[in-house]
Amino acid sequence: MSVYAAITGWGMGVPVKIVTNDDIAKIVDTSDEWIQTRTGIRERRIISGSESTSTLASAAGRDAMQMAGVTPADIDMVIVATFTPDRPLPATACQVQAALGLNRAAAFDIAAACSGFVYGLTVATSLIQTGMAKRILLCAVDVLSHVVNWQDRNTCVLFGDGAGAVVLEATDQPYGLLSAVLGADGRREDLLMIEAGGTCMPLRDDPHDTRRYLTMNGREVFKLAVRGMEESSLSALAKANMTLDQIDLVVPHQANRRIIEAIAERLNLPIERFFINLDRYGNTSAGTIPIALTEAAASGALKQDDYVLLTAFGGGLTWGSAVIRWGKPS
Ligand code: COA
Repeated sequence: MSVYAAITGWGMGVPVKIVTNDDIAKIVDTSDEWIQTRTGIRERRIISGSESTSTLASAAGRDAMQMAGVTPADIDMVIVATFTPDRPLPATACQVQAALGLNRAAAFDIAAACSGFVYGLTVATSLIQTGMAKRILLCAVDVLSHVVNWQDRNTCVLFGDGAGAVVLEATDQPYGLLSAVLGADGRREDLLMIEAGGTCMPLRDDPHDTRRYLTMNGREVFKLAVRGMEESSLSALAKANMTLDQIDLVVPHQANRRIIEAIAERLNLPIERFFINLDRYGNTSAGTIPIALTEAAASGALKQDDYVLLTAFGGGLTWGSAVIRWGKPS
C-alpha cells in the first residue's frame, strides 16, 4: 500500500470569452469601481459556442496528463468536482472520460461547491492510499454563468467559469496531500443555494421563476467564509504537525480579495504569501484552487518541494483546508 499521492501534473481550461466589469455595468446597475473596490475582480471568463463544463474540464485534464507524462491507459479513475454538470445524467466525469479516451477509468462526480477541489483531493488521495487506484485524474470545474441571475447585481458580478485539473500518482515519498480537514453545515444551506431544479422543487416552465438561480446572503457568507477558512487552515496545519512559518504559499479559494485579506490578517501572514488571481477570473467555485495552482506554478510563485496551504469555503455550507507538498517525487 502506498502512503502518498503526489501531484505529478496540472492544467487549466478557461473559456475564450472575457467579460469585463464595464460589460456587466451595461446589464445591471453597477460599476467597475464598485466591483473592484468590494471584490478585487476586474474580469471573468464566460462560456460561449460549444464550450461547456466538460469541455473546460477536459482541456484542463489533457494538459495535466501531458505534464505528468501519462497516457489515457494509465488513468484508473477520473473524478470531477462540480455542482454545474453538463447534464443531470450522466456524471460530467463520464463525459471527460469519453473525451480523453480514459477507457479503463471509473468515473464519478463530487458536489461540494467551492470546496470541491479540497474535497476531491482528499477523496482521490484516500482511494490511492487504500490501493483502489494508482493514478487518478481530478478535475474541478464550474460554469456559474448558467446559474447566476444576470439581473441580480448582488451575485452576477462575483462569478465566472473555469476548470483546473491535477494528476495524482501513488508514491512512498511524502508528496501531495499531507493533511486535510473537511467540514459542512447543511443547516445553513439557505445562505448560498439554488432552490429549484431538483426533486424538492422541480423547475417550472416559467422563465420568470428566479428560483432556478443562485441566491446568496453575501454579508453572512463573507463572515462565515473568513472564520471557516481560518479555523480549518489552523486545524489542517496542526494535523500535519506544521506551523504557518513552514508554509511557502497559501492558495485560497478565490471569491473576494477582501475575504483573503481578512484571512491573512487573522493568520498574521503577509498578503504576499497568498496567491491571488481572482482579478482575472472571479469566483469559478471548484475551479479556483487548481486554476490558481496552475498559474502559480507557471509564474514561479510555486516551486518543486514547496509546502502549500489550500483553503476553501462555499455552498452547503462546506469548507476544507489541506497542506500539500508540491511537485514530483525525486
Ligand atoms: N454594484 C453596486 N452596488 C451593489 C452591488 C453591485 N454589484 N451589489 C450590491 N450593491 C449595493 C447593495 O445594494 C448595498 O446598497 P444599500 O447600502 O443601498 O443597500 C451596498 O452595495 C452595500 O452592500 P453590502 O452587501 O453591504 O456590500 P458588501 O461590502 O458586503 O459587499 C459582497 C457585497 C457580495 C461583495 C460581499 O458581501 C461578499 O463578497 N460576500 C461573500 C460572497 C462570496 O464570496 N460568496 C461566495 C463564497 S464561496
